[in-house]
Amino acid sequence: MKRNDDCWCGSGKKYKKCHLDFDERIAEMKFNVNKSQIRPPHHVINIAKDIEGIKKAAVINTGALDLMAKLVKPGIDTLSLNDAAHEFIVSHGAHPSCLNYDNFPKSICISVNNVVCHGIPSKKVILREGDILNIDITTDLDGYFADASRMYIVGGRTTLEAKRLVDVTREIMEAGIRAAQPWHFVGDIGAACGKMARANGYTVVTELGGHGVGKKFHLEPFVSHDCKENTGMLMVPGMVLTVEPMINAGKKQVVTDAYDGWTVRTEDGSLSAQWEKTILITEDGNQVLAS
Ligand code: MF3
Ligand code: CO
Ligand code: CO
Repeated sequence: MKRNDDCWCGSGKKYKKCHLDFDERIAEMKFNVNKSQIRPPHHVINIAKDIEGIKKAAVINTGALDLMAKLVKPGIDTLSLNDAAHEFIVSHGAHPSCLNYDNFPKSICISVNNVVCHGIPSKKVILREGDILNIDITTDLDGYFADASRMYIVGGRTTLEAKRLVDVTREIMEAGIRAAQPWHFVGDIGAACGKMARANGYTVVTELGGHGVGKKFHLEPFVSHDCKENTGMLMVPGMVLTVEPMINAGKKQVVTDAYDGWTVRTEDGSLSAQWEKTILITEDGNQVLAS
């Protein structure tokens, strides 16, 4: 690409006024293959127009998660929560991205107690006082995706252990987000999460993780929540990714339900928690786009 060409990012600016310095900075860097350090491909970079699109999707996604907080109570089944979220998202002109994604049968994921993630909403799953659950919602609007999840406590009160798991898992996500810095490597996120999880006596699920998001639901990089710093893809301004640690009170091993092909549970039956935000890597840190 020449200095006076239109920049590859689609901004409409000349290359020399747009991503030339950015490309040169990456070109000058040495990537250590032993640490799986890799350059970010152009398609994971978002420009201002893309960020605006993701933020609009995020407004609807946040509204759906807020609505869940009002509806979660003892006696409600998780299919009713799914249907309310679906209706909310569709009525705002958007689409619940999970629906039919890889044949996932419902619009959102609801994971109760020992379910780690990808719980399928069902009439048969009825919430009880003291249950802890994760509701994970992804919304796409005009081709842009926002992905976030929160924990909810049924009836507002639970055991001390469950409450501590929910609260500490949120802290672990925040520690991961603080480690998401431009010109550092994505492994820093998992290093921060893993350290805090262990310090609290918890384990980190490593089969699943965060991901690039924005112009697609799932793209590179894979975001591990327990790994070494200085490894993996370089984080650069314009990259959008999720931080979504899955933290177990017991052992880290998980099992996927053989019948539905989706529901992931702790192998030992222990409680699991997860929080997720979509963040943008900026010039001087990061910005939360969906939470
Ligand atoms: N929202 C989940 C994530 O955080 C993905 C769910 S995929 C589904 O990446 F198919 F189960 F919906
Ligand atoms: Co999600
Ligand atoms: Co996600």
